[in-house]
Amino acid sequence: MTTFTCVADTEVPLVEVDATKKLSKIDDMIYGGFTEHMGRCVYGGMYDPGNPLSDEHGFRKDVMDALRELDIPVVRYPGGNFVATYNWEDGVGPKELRPKRPELAWLGTESNEFGTDEFMKWLDVLSEGKAKRVEPYFALNFGTGTLREALAWVEYCNGTKDTYYANLRRKNGHPEPYNVKYWALGNEMWGPWQVGQMTKEVYAETAAQWGKAIRLLDPNVCLILCGETGHASWDHHVLRECIEFVDMHSIHIYTAAHAHMPNVTAPLSAERAIQTAAALIDMARIEKNIDPAKPQTTICFDEWNVWDPDRAPGDKGGEEAYTLSDALAVAVWLNVFIRQSRHLGMANIAQTVNVISPLMTTKEGIIKQTTWWPLLLYSKYMRGTAVACHVKCGSYKGETQPKWLQNVLQDGAPWLDVSATLSHDGMVNLAVVNISETEEFSTELRGVGSECKVYTVTGPEVMSCNMDGKEAVNLEESEWKVNDKVAFPKASLTMLRWKA
Ligand code: AHR
Repeated sequence: MTTFTCVADTEVPLVEVDATKKLSKIDDMIYGGFTEHMGRCVYGGMYDPGNPLSDEHGFRKDVMDALRELDIPVVRYPGGNFVATYNWEDGVGPKELRPKRPELAWLGTESNEFGTDEFMKWLDVLSEGKAKRVEPYFALNFGTGTLREALAWVEYCNGTKDTYYANLRRKNGHPEPYNVKYWALGNEMWGPWQVGQMTKEVYAETAAQWGKAIRLLDPNVCLILCGETGHASWDHHVLRECIEFVDMHSIHIYTAAHAHMPNVTAPLSAERAIQTAAALIDMARIEKNIDPAKPQTTICFDEWNVWDPDRAPGDKGGEEAYTLSDALAVAVWLNVFIRQSRHLGMANIAQTVNVISPLMTTKEGIIKQTTWWPLLLYSKYMRGTAVACHVKCGSYKGETQPKWLQNVLQDGAPWLDVSATLSHDGMVNLAVVNISETEEFSTELRGVGSECKVYTVTGPEVMSCNMDGKEAVNLEESEWKVNDKVAFPKASLTMLRWKA
């Protein structure tokens, strides 16, 4: 948590860290990824057979190497909206027998060349050299799909007995169960764009029935309820009806605005969404008289990012060209996750490659977008425990996106958006996003070590982009001796690290 005192812009700002005040554990799973059969995410992104940059499985090695740097703990698959017409059985078995199908979310054709077994293999390769494997997280088809198909998929992945789908997995060359723990009960079933859109009442009844059956088949699964934004009546209803059966509650938010200030402050709406969803979870537990011994239902923010679908339409592949402003928005998003970490069990940036992604491929290599750098820095350093910090500075009080954000930001959005952690290596990590496009802030620091490693992400202008052939926005490393004040450059992310 970060507390905030709003002062006049003329006062010298202050950032104070108290690493002895440990507030909440940060679940590593907040640095999760998401790969959907959409645009060039799977085909041409993760999987590009025949390309000299790919391995013997057709997996792009340069993409793999980049993702290893991010140390992703979990990847959601295969959608997104795609899953609402997906039959997982089309994507297993001999490739030459797999049917091509019309794909109704993004209006393409799905070749089914890449399916469950390829995804699991891809995760195996991604996990090489790691102490813990990268976890799979599958979303179930609540659109055209049936409970029978869903149970068959769980059995295919996790079955250990002499049963049809467990044997089918063995026949396909995978004797051991995959032990897929995370299963989403549908995706955005509230959305008018969704094949099989449901009312909240119908969804809640269906989710409870499916959840019950899946758990009978495999009691070890973690079931994830399909929420909306966290601040919708859908969330309220489905949580109340399903709280007994689910482990996590999924919410999705994408932020974006044309102008820098509404763009960079928009992720603060996600902070309110998390707080609201957490309150709805509390309410559901109270109303349903849930045994306190039942572990807390956590929030699974399994789609988040900066995305303007008018700028980068989904049916055209959703390829955003991110700016410095977007990179700072991503840093604010990640500060939100640290500050609200007590409520979060998982978060998944949408998406992992090419589609609204920090990482792009060409036939010849990869491009790290502006948003790559904050994601890399936070994933590397902002793990462990969130610690107390206080910010005193002026604030932005202008237009916001969404508009309602102005109602909840009573003192405006602080010019310095801050979070702090104590990581397992005994380092304190302080992330400061100066959201101002014009002002550098010379800032008093308290509780900060006298010698810090410093990482800065900035660029020439807030609209600077890395997709024009040069890395206008990247990462600079330095060391600072901190005694009195330090300057946070305009439109920048600065991460300071020191020994606790
Ligand atoms: O991530 C892109 C799309 O955005 C997903 O398919 C969908 O769930 C969301 O609307």
